[in-house]
Amino acid sequence: MSKIPIGILGATGVVGQRFIQMLEHHPWFEVAWLAASDRSEGKLYAEAAKWRLKTPIPANIAAMKVSPATPAGAPKVIFAALDASIAAEMEPRFADAGCAVVSNSSALRMQSDVPLVIPEVNSSHIKLIDIQAWRKKSGGYVVTNPNCSAIGLVLALAPLQQFGLETVMAVTMQAISGAGYPGVASLDILGNVIPFIRNEEEKMEEETRKLLGQLNGSKVIPGAFAMSAQCNRVAVEDGHTESVSVRLRTKPKREEIIAAWNSFRSEPQQLKLPSAPELPVVYLEASDRPQPRFDIDMGAGMTTAVGRLRPCGVLDWKFTVLSHNTIRGAAGAAVLNAELLKVKGYLA
Ligand SMILES: NC(=O)c1ccc[n+]([C@@H]2O[C@H](COP(=O)([O-])OP(=O)(O)OC[C@H]3O[C@@H](n4cnc5c(N)ncnc54)[C@H](OP(=O)(O)O)[C@@H]3O)[C@@H](O)[C@H]2O)c1
Repeated sequence: MSKIPIGILGATGVVGQRFIQMLEHHPWFEVAWLAASDRSEGKLYAEAAKWRLKTPIPANIAAMKVSPATPAGAPKVIFAALDASIAAEMEPRFADAGCAVVSNSSALRMQSDVPLVIPEVNSSHIKLIDIQAWRKKSGGYVVTNPNCSAIGLVLALAPLQQFGLETVMAVTMQAISGAGYPGVASLDILGNVIPFIRNEEEKMEEETRKLLGQLNGSKVIPGAFAMSAQCNRVAVEDGHTESVSVRLRTKPKREEIIAAWNSFRSEPQQLKLPSAPELPVVYLEASDRPQPRFDIDMGAGMTTAVGRLRPCGVLDWKFTVLSHNTIRGAAGAAVLNAELLKVKGYLA
């Protein structure tokens, strides 16, 4: 089977680099086009990108020229890793030109006809593609994955929906790679905690409700639970940790909650999508886990680790969630979305 050529918009950034790493040996997709800002345009990728990953730049990618960020000459499948302000204008342009845009950016996530998808949680929402004006005009469309802290939280909450989710409170400790490159200045973050990430709390709250909402014809009815998020930046390289408390209607026992997490499987596992982790969520029994240093690479960075389940004195239960922000929270999320789109016939 010949591979589907794909392009990466924002290929030189933190998420763009993860795309390149994750797609190096992908069985279905092949990187055929790279674009970034006009600062990088025309340069060889190896010169344009400040490569920050531990594996080397694939040789064919290092020698590829960075193209202008315009649809002319771009492949029909685009992974987009652009800042929201740029994505807001650029992603519609690519969709309008007939491209399938699989986006990481927040720019269009909450637009009512744009699916915000985690394949294990709400794969049915991709049907929103069919009502997009771009789709009707040129065949192009936009699909998004959530914010890097919403995704770990939602993967931990989805198995608990059977118990009737009533209230969710989450406090994040987010890695510096989540701020892109060069990101937060070292003098601001070393030995410090920054209790503010612009728009992050709003994104977590609204995206969590959309992801756990129900598709009703042409719109998603948001999940009807109360939700509060507090977001902090901490001096960790990769991996967002979250302290979460929940109130559940049916009052399950501790063992029932743990069993719900450990037995959680969904469509990507049934379909054996290449990037789907065998276990989307794993409960760790050790009293001091999960920790970013030890647990972010579970399931090749695609598994969400949960631990420290104990009674909460205010709501019912509290626990800790950890997920890899640039893999499960960004590039891996988009690649899994694209795999789902292919299987569902949207990459024809
Ligand atoms: N980092 C994470 O953990 C994470 C997780 C989830 C979602 N996201 C989202 O993913 C997106 C990218 O984040 P990042 O962390 O990869 O950011 P980043 O490291 O700052 O990279 C930004 C990329 O966008 C390119 N770019 C900037 N201006 C452009 C323009 N006018 N036209 C075309 N390309 C342009 C940059 O190219 P140059 O190198 O040429 O400047 C670079 O390739 C953001 O929307 C972010 O919120 C990030």
